[in-house]
Amino acid sequence: MPQELLVLTAQDVKRALPMERAISACEEAYAAYSAGEAVVPLRTQIPVPHYEGVSVFMPAHLPVAGSTALKVVSVYPRNPERGLPTIMGMVVLLDATTGAPLALLEGGYLTALRTGAAAGAAARHLAPAGARVAALFGAGVQGRTQVLALAAVRPLEEVRVFDPVPGRAQALAADLGAELPGVRWVFPDEPREAVQGAEVVITATTSSTPVFPGDALAPGTHVSAIGSFTPTMQEIDETTVLRADKLVVDSREAVLVEAGDIIIPMQRGAITPDRIFAEVGEIVRGRKPGRERPDEITVYKAVGLAVLDAAAAAAAYRGAAELGLGTRVRLM
Ligand SMILES: NC(=O)c1ccc[n+]([C@@H]2O[C@H](COP(=O)([O-])OP(=O)(O)OC[C@H]3O[C@@H](n4cnc5c(N)ncnc54)[C@H](O)[C@@H]3O)[C@@H](O)[C@H]2O)c1
Repeated sequence: MPQELLVLTAQDVKRALPMERAISACEEAYAAYSAGEAVVPLRTQIPVPHYEGVSVFMPAHLPVAGSTALKVVSVYPRNPERGLPTIMGMVVLLDATTGAPLALLEGGYLTALRTGAAAGAAARHLAPAGARVAALFGAGVQGRTQVLALAAVRPLEEVRVFDPVPGRAQALAADLGAELPGVRWVFPDEPREAVQGAEVVITATTSSTPVFPGDALAPGTHVSAIGSFTPTMQEIDETTVLRADKLVVDSREAVLVEAGDIIIPMQRGAITPDRIFAEVGEIVRGRKPGRERPDEITVYKAVGLAVLDAAAAAAAYRGAAELGLGTRVRLM
């Protein structure tokens, strides 16, 4: 039997996996993860200090999607100075029934898509049902898919975009304008102004220090924090964490090792691990409630799970096969 590998570019992935389908795939992956129905070995990191970068190897097996996948992703924060994205990578998808390599997918867009879709899945259960106004901190690659995912689950009318680098917020609005014609774009001068009156606040930055003051959050706000991914990075402040009626995470195990947003307040003695209300997957499965009251402040903190890559890669592979997308390479 000939062995074939399907190679999918970022454009192929974009066409093969629309946001709504990506959200459903991530919701299913979160549920399987929290029910112990996925195999997720610890990710391996190889720091490359000379270039201030890190390459991360993230394997996962997700039976519900019939997939085993390995994502290799590099995070090089100084890449934008070289005209390159901060995050680049690829995903190898295997057929879980035979172990055969099925596909090689561009990983940068897939990561942004699944990170947005996972936050969209969380917002479906936690954000106010009629949320129309959102604030976005960080007008980078993740910021774009964060807004697209939120718009897929809530009737967004206004997005306030804040980014300290001049022109970035406006560039994001120009990029997304055609896809989200009903959205009004606002560019606040300072973080407090962006947050006041926002029903959803998204942080998708590379900042190591809190990007908005938690006392500015109105009751009923949903905060979606996806940027920080090391114990020393803190994008949302202690006030935000303390004001959360429900602090919901992608993985208890992962955030307690990687998320400075939670680890730093813990080290200061302000919170204990039981402050975490639930994993998103527990809410998806109905084991814990999502939003119960209009005035609840909900916070979703995610550091990223390999099961999301396995789920998104499998869904993109299926979509590409249906549409005849990608390039087939004969391996044997
Ligand atoms: N949770 C996950 O699953 C997940 C997945 C992918 C990336 N990430 C993380 O998300 C972060 C953003 O990634 P990206 O690919 O969008 O990077 P990016 O470089 O494309 O964009 C980051 C943006 O944040 C802006 N920024 C920095 N400090 C800010 C501040 N104080 N306020 C507002 N904006 C600020 C930068 O100017 C930049 O425009 C990174 O830290 C990345 O590692 C998390």
